[in-house]
Amino acid sequence: MTTHQQPPVLVLGGTGKVGRRIAERLTARGVPVRIGARGATPAFDWTNPATWGDVLNGARAVFISYAPDLAVPGASQAIGALTRQAAAQGVQRVVLLSGRGEEEAEAAERLVQQAGIAWTIVRCSWFSQNFSEDFLLEPVLAGDVALPVDMVSEPFVDAEDIADVATEALLDKRHAGQLYELTGPQLLTFNEAVQEIARAANRPIRFTTIPLGDFTAGLTAAGLTKDEVSLVGYLFTTVLDGRNSSLTDGVQQALGRVPRDFAGYAAKTAASGVWSTR
Ligand SMILES: NC(=O)c1ccc[n+]([C@@H]2O[C@H](COP(=O)([O-])OP(=O)(O)OC[C@H]3O[C@@H](n4cnc5c(N)ncnc54)[C@H](OP(=O)(O)O)[C@@H]3O)[C@@H](O)[C@H]2O)c1
Repeated sequence: MTTHQQPPVLVLGGTGKVGRRIAERLTARGVPVRIGARGATPAFDWTNPATWGDVLNGARAVFISYAPDLAVPGASQAIGALTRQAAAQGVQRVVLLSGRGEEEAEAAERLVQQAGIAWTIVRCSWFSQNFSEDFLLEPVLAGDVALPVDMVSEPFVDAEDIADVATEALLDKRHAGQLYELTGPQLLTFNEAVQEIARAANRPIRFTTIPLGDFTAGLTAAGLTKDEVSLVGYLFTTVLDGRNSSLTDGVQQALGRVPRDFAGYAAKTAASGVWSTR
């Protein structure tokens, strides 16, 4: 069978931080990829189940990344419904991108495990790439990061490692039935992470702890919707209460090697120029 005749792997969130990296890895290995996103063809939209059938049609495996976030009410039901539909349409395998310490994410995991299809769960701590490809990029560029967190430490995980694990799980049936909890190799406070970035980017970046109300008011002023503000508020209060301040060996279990560290992420990202002052 040639590459062109193989059924595709569907990568939901295939334009996002983890999905984009999975799509690159699959393509490099000659595996046909179908991107699931609102701007893709056919378009996929979590809020419109009528779009699900076309993207699932003929796919051999599906990477599930829910948008906007697993913590949003209704996320688990949507993920459960999509997984059941995938099973009914003949998909062989699903890999769920999940979040550590989140009740809604664990509800989604259970629904995926019960859907009657081979599954792998990739349950992750905070992505390092939030500082370079998401809402923390602007404050880093401004040299002033103000967050409602103090001494809580987080084992930031590199999206490159998540993509490595998820790609293997999509292609190799030995990962079926596994729940991998992925963290980086060290615990860092947000201040320590920011100072690591400052060192790598070779410029000062101030970190301050601010009250949650000031933080959410800033997000509202920056144009985020009420739902987005309450979601970020939830992540900083509930999920970052210290419950995730521990390391796991999920990368080692899945890949037989140690995870990438934050300093390596910072050096590589600084070299890309994304943190260069405009
Ligand atoms: N960021 C973290 O630190 C972290 C940690 C643990 C778990 N997670 C989980 O990881 C998942 C991905 O989060 P992320 O922040 O990294 O986002 P992301 O994957 O970087 O970006 C979101 C992706 O979803 C697509 N998307 C957005 N709205 C959509 C919709 N209505 N229907 C279909 N696709 C849509 C986007 O493409 P289009 O805009 O082109 O549609 C994009 O590909 C979330 O479920 C989150 O809970 C994140």
